[in-house]
Amino acid sequence: QIPNITILGSLNTDLVAYVPHHPLPGETLTATSFLTSPGGKGSNQAVACAKLSRPRDLSSPSAHVSMVGAVGSDSNGDLLLSNLATHGVDSSLVTKLPNKKTGIAMIVVEAETGQNRIIISGEANHQVGEEYVTQGGWLDKTDLLIMQLEIPMGTVLKAVEEAKRRGVDVLLNPAPAKILPDGVYDGLRHLVVNETEAAILGGVEEKELDTLEGLERVGKGFVGKGVENFIATLGGRGVFYLTKGGRSGLIEAEKGVKVVDTTGAGDTFVGRYALEAARARKEGGEFDVGGAVGRANKAAAVTVTREGAARSIPWRDEVE
Ligand code: RIB
Ligand code: NA
Repeated sequence: QIPNITILGSLNTDLVAYVPHHPLPGETLTATSFLTSPGGKGSNQAVACAKLSRPRDLSSPSAHVSMVGAVGSDSNGDLLLSNLATHGVDSSLVTKLPNKKTGIAMIVVEAETGQNRIIISGEANHQVGEEYVTQGGWLDKTDLLIMQLEIPMGTVLKAVEEAKRRGVDVLLNPAPAKILPDGVYDGLRHLVVNETEAAILGGVEEKELDTLEGLERVGKGFVGKGVENFIATLGGRGVFYLTKGGRSGLIEAEKGVKVVDTTGAGDTFVGRYALEAARARKEGGEFDVGGAVGRANKAAAVTVTREGAARSIPWRDEVE
């Protein structure tokens, strides 16, 4: 029983500069190195699902992964499409738009911490309208739909509604953070946020998430609105989860990790977690949230040790 996972979201070309420190206002810096590589939260999460579902050399995947979105008619768009194909992601529902540019992310990564700062220019991603939700009937074949917030909000809301109508599970990774209407949370199977997103969406100060009590309070707020599994990734502090069924825990961050570039870590987490969520859904078995969170955490710890986004995501045999 192979689950169908579909990602409706963004595709970007990442322009990454590695710098000794983040530039100050008015400062001109020389990068120590520069990289152009496939990115975009949607595309990265699709690649994460595909890479983490199988060892590099094996031809039989344990998940069918499809991407829905848009690129422009430029060479960047072609590279993103071939990047999906290389990793076994079905890209037949990624539209190549005439007279549009492919999404761009300008990323600056600081040597000391591996932390990034990102500026996105959405371009073709802005054209992903509500019609993408129903075209081709892909939603009827999907077990788990994954979305982020780098495409128009109206499209995300429409997809949530259509998925709900069909009984399709949704994993929402509301990044970059935007306040969502309460109706989105009602019946939402998985909500995966980082600290900033948890604070903005939960309407609290980030420091409230510093304690376990604070995390529980915010998690219960989302569960109260109808979320079944609330997951908050906390960087060096690990990952917190809380479920509608009353399970909760704080899984510690992996120790002794040499952080080079955190780009793609959140996307890796989502991909690895989604594989287990989709399989449990397909097989109708119980979903071991804590186990999925722990394994997703391990996979993301590999991604931060490597440069770039999609290219830094490990294959399954590189983690297990
Ligand atoms: O999550 C990382 C991604 O965010 C990058 O690849 C960049 O394209 C931005 O969308
Ligand atoms: Na990385």
